[in-house]
Amino acid sequence: MLRNTIESWGAPAKVFHWLIAALILSQIALGLTAAGWHLSPTKLNLFVWHKSIGMLILALVVLRLLWRLANPSPALPAEMPAWERRAAEASHFLLYGLALAMPLSGWIVNSADKVPFHIFWTIPLPAIVAPDKGTADLAKLAHFSFFIVLAAVLVAHIGAALRHHFVKHDDVLWRMLPGKWRKK
Ligand code: HEM
Ligand code: HEM
Repeated sequence: MLRNTIESWGAPAKVFHWLIAALILSQIALGLTAAGWHLSPTKLNLFVWHKSIGMLILALVVLRLLWRLANPSPALPAEMPAWERRAAEASHFLLYGLALAMPLSGWIVNSADKVPFHIFWTIPLPAIVAPDKGTADLAKLAHFSFFIVLAAVLVAHIGAALRHHFVKHDDVLWRMLPGKWRKK
């Protein structure tokens, strides 16, 4: 089943979700490790990985959003109260926004700092802003602030998924899991 239905996510939506989830969680650990590393060739290599994976996430999120717009989305369980629906919609909207804002602010840091960088040591990343220390500092602050908001929303997101599964016993986690969807 490729396309989403009103009941469940299709395979591409699941692959996008779990691939991007794994990359974003690794990317947070990599960013914190790279930022905290002492100045050395290893630090520079950690940053090449961080920036490359970040640009890969940006491309995947754009493709994922296009696929999402071309498909219906499964309906939330009918018994879900209105505030929970609004919370789910708002947090998903925020997650998509942050998954774009994180790499874009990182790209601005890289451009404003004028760091020569090749994605996965191959494709040169063009600058999107002129070199400027003020812009770089502001973008670093934005990158860090987006990360704090992302971490908070992810705690709520993962907590909500576990609550659906273990407390409410509905289909919300099942239908995002790999393989054939089945009702609990
Ligand atoms: C690792 C633990 C995670 C679990 C257990 C989990 C679980 C889920 C589940 C069950 C859904 C489906 C909700 C529904 O059917 O209405 C979902 C949707 C979603 N998840 Fe996750 N997720 C995780 C990590 C992440 C991460 C790291 C991101 C980062 C971007 C993320 C972003 C999203 C988004 C944007 C949606 C909304 C999909 C849409 O409406 O298009 N998730 N998640
Ligand atoms: C989803 C994508 C990304 C996530 C989740 C992410 C996350 C992080 C985290 C957690 C840190 C350490 C905390 C901090 O110092 O701000 C960091 C630092 C950094 N990231 Fe990212 N990042 C992403 C994408 C990118 C991209 C695409 C680039 C550049 C092309 C980039 C460049 C940087 C730089 C230069 C720093 C060090 C900032 C500083 O010195 O203050 N990041 N990132």
